Amino acid sequence: MEIINRRQRMASVTRKLRREEDKTIGLVPTMGALHEGHLSLVREARRMCDIVVVSVFVNPTQFGPNEDYARYPRDLTKDTTRLADYNVDYIFAPSVEEVYPKGFSTYVTVEGLSEPMEGTARPGHFRGVATVLTVLFNTVRADFAFFGQKDAQQVLVVKRLVRDLAFDTEIVVLPTVREESGLALSSRNAYLKDDERRAAAVIYRALSQAREVYLEGERNARRLTEVVRQQIEAEPRARLEYVSVVRVYNNFSSLNASVKLLSLTARRRFHTDSLQPRFAF
Ligand code: PAJ
Repeated sequence: MEIINRRQRMASVTRKLRREEDKTIGLVPTMGALHEGHLSLVREARRMCDIVVVSVFVNPTQFGPNEDYARYPRDLTKDTTRLADYNVDYIFAPSVEEVYPKGFSTYVTVEGLSEPMEGTARPGHFRGVATVLTVLFNTVRADFAFFGQKDAQQVLVVKRLVRDLAFDTEIVVLPTVREESGLALSSRNAYLKDDERRAAAVIYRALSQAREVYLEGERNARRLTEVVRQQIEAEPRARLEYVSVVRVYNNFSSLNASVKLLSLTARRRFHTDSLQPRFAF
């Protein structure tokens, strides 16, 4: 396993593997502080690809001015040890100056999809995500890039980015990994004290209850969001930022059909989660 800090070195390593050795390359973009959710992506990348590259970069442009950029957990040594266990070939861990050299002035905006929900709660967030992924995709030029369904809106933004700007990288989406309580694993769970962590499981319980109600036949979006709202408001440690029921038309290439995806999303400060009650064709 090699740790690479430079864009140019990363690009030349993968170029050589592709051209001279005909290897398939998988990229797992992360911001580090790795947990089982990230590692599930790494495992699938290992299974599907000859070469696995994991990027570890806490991307400043996707954090708002009052967000947690400064205190976001960083532990490259621990991340490196974990990734070595998974037989990862390369860790790409560039500095901020390496990704955003002096005079950097080109940003990528995926219009429409970036604006509701997480985009309203965190203005500019998806512009930062789309921009850094453009740099990562162009540097690594992977055959496959792996993302978690936990960040449902991010998945839609990334797929649109890849389609619109004609990146030659296929997006693979994997299910959310949860604690036994249902709480989705997240690097930011490190901020939670034990009692807060227990309380945060209300998000999954609330979404699951709405799913039940949906499966029983409720199709009124307002009533579905009410189910979530009531549950979350009953937990004194939780403050609901938004809950929404959305229908998104999306091309899931593996299904080779247009899929109607109804996804329920709830966000408590620093913890985003979503569920898909069903797929309809
Ligand atoms: P980060 O939050 O580190 O997440 C990296 C990847 O791991 C994302 O695709 C995310 O959806 C996935 N992931 C996180 N928790 C998960 C869980 N519990 N189950 C399954 N997958 C999970 O998302 C980002 O970083 C950044 O926005 C990034 C894409 C790296 C761009 O900076």
